[in-house]
Amino acid sequence: MIILITGAAGFLGSSIVECLRGFDKNLTLLGVDNLSRKGSELNLPVLAMNKCDFLLGDISDQNFIDSLPKVDWIIDCAANPSVLAGVSNNSTLSLLNDNLIGNLYLLEKCKRDFAGFVLISTSRVYSINELNKIPLLKGEQRFSIDTRDSSKFPTGLTSEGVTESFSTKSPVSLYGATKIASEVLALEYHYSYGFPVWINRCGVIAGKRQLGKIDQGIFSFWVYQYALNKPLSFIGYGGTGIQVRDVLHPKDVFEIIRMQMFDSNSRSNRVFNIGGGEQNSMSLYELDQFCNSLFRKTEPVRIVVDNRALDIPLYLTDYSLAKAEWGWKPQVSINQIMDEIAEFAKCNHDFLLRLQ
Ligand SMILES: NC(=O)c1ccc[n+]([C@@H]2O[C@H](COP(=O)([O-])OP(=O)(O)OC[C@H]3O[C@@H](n4cnc5c(N)ncnc54)[C@H](O)[C@@H]3O)[C@@H](O)[C@H]2O)c1
Repeated sequence: MIILITGAAGFLGSSIVECLRGFDKNLTLLGVDNLSRKGSELNLPVLAMNKCDFLLGDISDQNFIDSLPKVDWIIDCAANPSVLAGVSNNSTLSLLNDNLIGNLYLLEKCKRDFAGFVLISTSRVYSINELNKIPLLKGEQRFSIDTRDSSKFPTGLTSEGVTESFSTKSPVSLYGATKIASEVLALEYHYSYGFPVWINRCGVIAGKRQLGKIDQGIFSFWVYQYALNKPLSFIGYGGTGIQVRDVLHPKDVFEIIRMQMFDSNSRSNRVFNIGGGEQNSMSLYELDQFCNSLFRKTEPVRIVVDNRALDIPLYLTDYSLAKAEWGWKPQVSINQIMDEIAEFAKCNHDFLLRLQ
């Protein structure tokens, strides 16, 4: 079986390559990346170690995609994954090329090759206005969902978090828009041409080798800043760091992809929310406490009271559909994820410095 992994030098792409190779040494793995993400070249040795052939190229270059060999599956991890991507005037078209037009060429390839397509989508497809309506309790250290009166829940919210039926009404950010548009296209290709399509809407993903920066990969970014003794700020929500995200490890992303690719049972649902859920969630304040216990940082965290554009106070995944259909639930705990990032940061200062 030949599997094409796009964004293969990125954090998730390189982790999926590692998992695929661990799963089956006989798979033929082909990795594509344009190395546009700062530091992505640092993950190339991971591809070599896992016998994944690497091709430097851009998924929005149709000639390049057309020149690739026939494949059986495409796992699409190539994107500009920041919620702030495309907002500056000269970056919008580049975002659309990376996250939408590139997917179109990949879908055309799937049609030609009759290959399966796995799209790594995001919780950012959900309506920012509706996410901001989630009733919250404001604790000293974190927000939590106020579950006392579920009649106040926006449609698609449960006491566990956001389900697949939550609103995707704009605004969702330009990034979210490219992902929801890619989802719709992928599903239409599936229904029109019959090849398998799976869409996984992921909450925050984190782990070793992440190319963390302030607007994407916040968990690793925070740890790296501590490890390098660099400045940090609590931005928004009064500057107290009580905003919350759930966290998922790439191994758990791979686990559902593995079942989707290799389980022959047909299923009617194609779109799944996957994420750490409440038990694997953390506020920025709690993340800071974790880092404080491990690293010496001389400067206190700065406080920026005003909210950042497109930010939301809390995101928790209700993954009960993935659990019901696949028996999927996260296996790697948030403590394991944080320990892995901290260990990586301690042992790889050069990697961290190259991201600066
Ligand atoms: N990391 C998260 O928290 C998270 C959460 C939800 C969804 N996702 C999705 O997971 C996928 C992987 O994210 P990641 O965290 O590994 O990001 P990443 O930036 O580490 O990896 C993306 C890779 O894609 C490459 N790339 C970008 N545009 C390309 C193009 N046009 N052609 C070829 N390569 C291109 C980049 O160079 C980079 O190596 C993305 O689709 C992202 O939207 C990530």
